[in-house]
Amino acid sequence: MKTQNAEQIRASVREHYAGLIASGESCCAPSNACCGTENDIETALKGKFAKKNGYTDEQLSSIPTDASEHSFGCGNPLEYADVREGDVVLDLGSGAGIDVLLASQLVGESGKAIGIDMTPQMIEKARKNATEAEAKNVEFRLGEIEAMPVEDNSVDWIVSNCVINLSPDKDKVFREAYRVLKPGGRLLVSDIVANHMPEWLKSVVSAWASCISGALPEDQYLDSIRHAGFEDVNVLSKSAYAKVAKAEVASIKVKATKPNE
Ligand SMILES: C[S@@+](CC[C@H](N)C(=O)[O-])C[C@H]1O[C@@H](n2cnc3c(N)ncnc32)[C@H](O)[C@@H]1O
Repeated sequence: MKTQNAEQIRASVREHYAGLIASGESCCAPSNACCGTENDIETALKGKFAKKNGYTDEQLSSIPTDASEHSFGCGNPLEYADVREGDVVLDLGSGAGIDVLLASQLVGESGKAIGIDMTPQMIEKARKNATEAEAKNVEFRLGEIEAMPVEDNSVDWIVSNCVINLSPDKDKVFREAYRVLKPGGRLLVSDIVANHMPEWLKSVVSAWASCISGALPEDQYLDSIRHAGFEDVNVLSKSAYAKVAKAEVASIKVKATKPNE
C-alpha cells in the first residue's frame, strides 16, 4: 500500500470508529491493539474489556452500560491522575465518553469535563451517555486533537486513552496539549508505543485504526512530549500488548507537567 497523507489517515481512522458505532460492536476487533489482542476478544464480547483495562467495578457501575461497553481504550488514565473538585479535565479522543463521565464525578459541579473527538458518531453517542448519566458538567466537542477547539491556558488535566498513536502528527498534538493546559497543568496519557516496526507496516493505513502502524517507539514518543515544552515526563507503567510482524507493541501510561511560568 502507498504511503498515505495525514488527511487520508484521519479519514480512515474516522471511518473505522464510525463503523464500530454503526455496527453496535463493542471493543472486539480482531488484533485491534486499541482495545486488546485476539485473546481478549471473548472477554470483550462479554462486556468485560473495560474492567480488564483497569477500571474498577465501582467506576463501571457508576456510568451508563453503553459507555463502558464502548470503551476502546488501553488503560484507565484517571487511575494516575490526582483530579480535584473544581478542576477542568480535557479528554483527547473521548470516544463514547467513559473517561469524561468518570472525570465529571471527580470534578463535581464546580468543575468541568470536556471531551474532543473527530468522529461525529462518537460525539453523538457520548452526548447520549452524558444525558443518561445526568451529568451536567460535561461537554463533548467535535474536533481534531491537532487543532483543539479549546482556549489557551484553560485546562488543569489532560487525559487521553489510546488515541494519540492514531494521529499522523503527534508533535502537533503535544504542542496543542501544552497550549491549552494552565501553567502547572498535567498531561496523563494511556497509549500504544511500538519498537521494531517494519517499514512496510507503517504505510498500511488500515492498521493505523487498529493502533499499530501509527505507534512510535517509546523514546520518540517521550521526546515528542518534551519537545512540546513539558517537564517531568515519566512513564508510570508499561505492559507488553501484542507482537505484530516484528513490531513489539506495548501499552504505556505517561505523566508530564507544563512548567509554571
Ligand atoms: C481507540 S478509540 C478510544 C476512545 C476513548 N478514548 C476510549 O477510551 O474509549 C480512538 C478515538 O479517538 C478518536 N480520534 C482518533 N484520532 C483523532 C484525532 N486526530 N482527533 C480527534 N479524535 C481522534 C476516534 O474518533 C475514536 O473515538
